[in-house]
Amino acid sequence: MDPRTRIAIIGCGGIGHTHARAYAANSDVCQLVACADVAPQAADSMEREFGCAAYQDAAAMLDDVRPDAISICTPPSSHLPMTQLAAERGIAVLCEKPLTRNLPEAQQMVELVQSSDILFMNGLCHRFHGPVQQARQIIQEGRLGRVIQFQNRFAFRFQGVEQRWFTDPEIAGGGILLDTAVHSLDLFRFLVGEVATVCAQISTTLPIQVEDSATLLLRSVDNVIGEISCSWVTPPGEAIVRIYGTDGTLGIDYSREPNLRYCLAGGDWVPVPFEGPDRFAAETRHFVECVRDGRQPQVTVQDGARAIALIDQAYASATRESGNQFSEAAR
Ligand SMILES: NC(=O)c1ccc[n+]([C@@H]2O[C@H](COP(=O)([O-])OP(=O)(O)OC[C@H]3O[C@@H](n4cnc5c(N)ncnc54)[C@H](O)[C@@H]3O)[C@@H](O)[C@H]2O)c1
Repeated sequence: MDPRTRIAIIGCGGIGHTHARAYAANSDVCQLVACADVAPQAADSMEREFGCAAYQDAAAMLDDVRPDAISICTPPSSHLPMTQLAAERGIAVLCEKPLTRNLPEAQQMVELVQSSDILFMNGLCHRFHGPVQQARQIIQEGRLGRVIQFQNRFAFRFQGVEQRWFTDPEIAGGGILLDTAVHSLDLFRFLVGEVATVCAQISTTLPIQVEDSATLLLRSVDNVIGEISCSWVTPPGEAIVRIYGTDGTLGIDYSREPNLRYCLAGGDWVPVPFEGPDRFAAETRHFVECVRDGRQPQVTVQDGARAIALIDQAYASATRESGNQFSEAAR
């Protein structure tokens, strides 16, 4: 019998195909046995490319195939119901971000995972980006001295977002805060510690019902102050993280090689090369190894719920400010 972990993917769109490629890169420990998508052409495309069985109905697929674990790669409105299907069958779950559309659903997700005792991981994939892990090590070794400030910007021009589910509050739960700021907030927690306070300003430029740009100000429990900004409107694309300490600074720029550079007081900028798997290959490998070995994943349902709770606080803060009429629609 093949000892490898049997995987199925639900949702065969953009990130579903990314997960399929990532599992294929880990074919020594897992095999993709099936996929499901309500859109037959999406499931057929994954079947053709990866040689797995294709279904339109996720529950039927789980009952027929009985995978060990699934990736949930559907839009946010189905993350909770899909996890419920898996929990009823005792199947492990890697669920894409955002965990859910809002805080009440996130609390239901935590209760579901705890009561069913399934292995669950939330796809906050930036923790698995090699340069992010190298940066964390530099910070934890104290090489930047005391960390004072955190900056992060994920921004790009999202062509055609008006026609996608990303801007439908019923499906997405909100706008760019739920789409990209969940990653940013998790990066803040991973690199400089738990968030104590967050406030936000949001704006909407496109003809949509949700926010398409946002700026957040944060403070950590250890008094690191942070600024997160994100936009679907502003070209060119930018994906950067900067950490400023009393003895030096580091910067991650996802668009340049190597991504990570640091500069200590009186010195020059030092590039830090990274040669390892991409973040999705590393994330899925960690998930499969946890399923195989019965270990708790590094990114838990509580981490996903914490990001949603912080987004909820950001919306509440933005709503208190004048001119943020879109924030109510987004919730
Ligand atoms: N980790 C990341 O960096 C990252 C990047 C992109 C997207 N995502 C997340 O992944 C999820 C999917 O995003 P995407 O960009 O792949 O969207 P997408 O629209 O490209 O794909 C979603 C797919 O899910 C299918 N689907 C919808 N409802 C379904 C259901 N009930 N049963 C089965 N299939 C269903 C759709 O037909 C579609 O093929 C979202 O939660 C998104 O936020 C994460």
